[in-house]
Amino acid sequence: MMQEIFDVIFDLAMPFLDTRENKTHTRISCRFAERLLKKEGGDPHVVYPALILHDVGWKCIPEDLQLSAFGPGDKDMKLNRIHEIEGARIARDILEQVRYPQHLIKEITDIIIGHDSRKIAISINDAVVKDADKLWRYSEDGARINALRFALSFSQNLDRLRKKLDEWFITRTGLTIAKEELRLRESSLDRLSAPSHSL
Ligand SMILES: [Fe+2]
Ligand SMILES: [Fe+2]
Repeated sequence: MMQEIFDVIFDLAMPFLDTRENKTHTRISCRFAERLLKKEGGDPHVVYPALILHDVGWKCIPEDLQLSAFGPGDKDMKLNRIHEIEGARIARDILEQVRYPQHLIKEITDIIIGHDSRKIAISINDAVVKDADKLWRYSEDGARINALRFALSFSQNLDRLRKKLDEWFITRTGLTIAKEELRLRESSLDRLSAPSHSL
């Protein structure tokens, strides 16, 4: 039953996630959330819809401007803010369409509206969403996609991810998973750069 409603919300979010690799990002972040919820607690009825819908607002930002609003370096934070505000609005529309409980809609949209700009978590649900959002950057797809779009080598991107560990993660589990993922990315880099043994 629970899974069913999340699938319906995901289907309704799909047209809005069709930009900035957000379908892949959202799926992977939801997978990390499962482990975070198990270890840290939190309410899946808040965390999953918040994650599924947190980036729907990017659809309101022209694709040629998106890269100026996120990633390393000086970014247009006013533009970034639009994806939070529009995202909360679209999320509310979708959740009302499926008759999601009003008090949960309020909590979910409060999380979405500050998922990037608010650095402090307002609840354990918020902390799990923030950590799952950032863990994607450490996943295989996330590391590859971000290196490509930020014009970094895979290894330069891993250096960046290593430096951000203490800044980005709020929960102990988030930090542990990020370190594990980073080790996996580093070992695949070693394999890629190792001299071939075949003749
Ligand atoms: Fe975002
Ligand atoms: Fe995100």
